[in-house]
Amino acid sequence: MLLHLFFSLFVFLTLIDNGNAGVTSSFIRSEFPAVDIPLENEVFAVPKGYNAPQQVHITQGDYEGKAVIVSWVTPDKPGSSEVRYGLSKGKYDFTAKGSFTNYTFYTYKSGYIHKCFLNGLQYDTKYYYEIGNGDSARNFWFETPPKVDPDASYTFGIIGDLGQTYNSLSTLQHYMNSGAKSVLFVGDLSYADRYKYHDVGVRWDSWGRFVEPSTAYQPWIWNTGNHEIEYMPYMGEVTMFKSYLYRYPTPYQASNSTSPLWYSIRRASAHIIVLSTYSPFVKYTPQWKWLREEFKNVDREKTPWLIVLMHVPIYNSNVAHFMEGESMRSVFEAWFIEHKVDVIFAGHVHAYERSYRISNIHFNISSGDPYPVPDETAPVYITVGDGGNKEGLAARFRDPQPDYSAFRESSYGHSTLEIKNRSHAFYHWNRNDDGKKVKIDSFVLHNLYWGQNHQQRKSNQNRLRSLILNRASTSLL
Ligand SMILES: *[C@@H]1O[C@H](CO)[C@@H](O)[C@H](O)[C@H]1NC(C)=O
Ligand SMILES: *[C@@H]1O[C@H](CO)[C@@H](O)[C@H](O)[C@H]1NC(C)=O
Ligand SMILES: *[C@@H]1O[C@H](CO)[C@@H](O)[C@H](O)[C@H]1NC(C)=O
Ligand SMILES: *[C@@H]1O[C@H](CO)[C@@H](O)[C@H](O)[C@H]1NC(C)=O
Ligand SMILES: [Fe+2]
Repeated sequence: MLLHLFFSLFVFLTLIDNGNAGVTSSFIRSEFPAVDIPLENEVFAVPKGYNAPQQVHITQGDYEGKAVIVSWVTPDKPGSSEVRYGLSKGKYDFTAKGSFTNYTFYTYKSGYIHKCFLNGLQYDTKYYYEIGNGDSARNFWFETPPKVDPDASYTFGIIGDLGQTYNSLSTLQHYMNSGAKSVLFVGDLSYADRYKYHDVGVRWDSWGRFVEPSTAYQPWIWNTGNHEIEYMPYMGEVTMFKSYLYRYPTPYQASNSTSPLWYSIRRASAHIIVLSTYSPFVKYTPQWKWLREEFKNVDREKTPWLIVLMHVPIYNSNVAHFMEGESMRSVFEAWFIEHKVDVIFAGHVHAYERSYRISNIHFNISSGDPYPVPDETAPVYITVGDGGNKEGLAARFRDPQPDYSAFRESSYGHSTLEIKNRSHAFYHWNRNDDGKKVKIDSFVLHNLYWGQNHQQRKSNQNRLRSLILNRASTSLL
């Protein structure tokens, strides 16, 4: 039985690692129109009750998963920033006090944006919480992750470039049925910046209500994209990321970052690093210095899975945004190889693409080989910019498909990464197939740290112990 499993794994591995030409999917979707859902649609409905909390969302609040940040907006007056919470519905033994802020964007005045920090939570526990008062009070729940542990199993969803169209809705609904526990979001949230003047703020609010059915119940790990920059000098708005920074708090201080735009967390058996494409990252900048230090905090004995999120993909063979990730590649790729990053998720390109394990670190400006080469120590690069925003699909891939590209398809969807234990994770890309969710691109992600190298190192370090281990596993077979 096990032998059979090993054998099929081996066959599977050979299939994905033999450097065969990649696949360009011929699937052509019949698209919903790439237009935003009208504001009066029920997906944007304002909750009942005077000054009722809306746009509720949570994210991890600390480094290890024992804290949550709850955020919401009250439209009419500040109201309470308090969160009441506990282990059963309606029985709230704990209270946390938060704070609120507000901002203007041209003539738009935001509601009161609340932020409340729930700390000292137990791992692997369902908490119920309540915000707002009287008739306007609202109740939600969330589950904390298992304790940070090398074999903790956990399922992440990956969504990018979501927006607020009918395609976005399809992605969100499919995601919510996936069973995943937390979203790794790779940037470009609301696409509110496609509007002008007062409406920019309005579409941030509608997006907050749109995603609430998921974001109020499970943490979304946020990252920014170009649509969060909102540099709009024509209306006097020139503070980068203003709306985003007011609305989407991140636990950046817990990882000693000095900016909410880049940070890292540990969750279950994963160490997740969030990088900001649109913040300075070249040598000596704050983000570069922070990342250099943060890699030292990664402990693969505790968190075997090392995952990096960024907005612009480093390996992309779509005509759209081709080579835009080259600047970040030249700065960070060598570190990604050195630290054995397992997988890098990006968005930006409105299509799906997965790379083979490849690297291009031998190239430098005076000599070296300027081509990506197969590299078993390199990450897998996955682009999931296919959430379904109003800009539509990036339909044209470069031809022929480059050697580094394993699978690509121009349609909408989301991914899931089911981490099983320290060595195995099951990955799926799920296409929105006109109302159905279809698993299209699936593979077993083998951990780079706990793979063969580790076994070898271990046996060199302790031959006797590994002999015993081998005996044990032989007798199992
Ligand atoms: C924030 O809210 C207060 C109280 O309603 C109001 O006086 C102030 O003008 C608002 N500030 C901004 C920046 O909108
Ligand atoms: C952050 O810095 C403090 C003080 O130097 C240190 O104790 C802590 O371990 C650091 N945390 C991380 C996640 O780097
Ligand atoms: C550039 O590449 C050449 C050939 O691989 C190598 O000898 C040289 O050390 C590299 N220079 C730098 C600065 O990396
Ligand atoms: C890890 O999970 C994979 C997939 O479920 C399984 O085949 C493998 O035996 C597990 N490894 C250990 C050490 O439990
Ligand atoms: Fe983008």
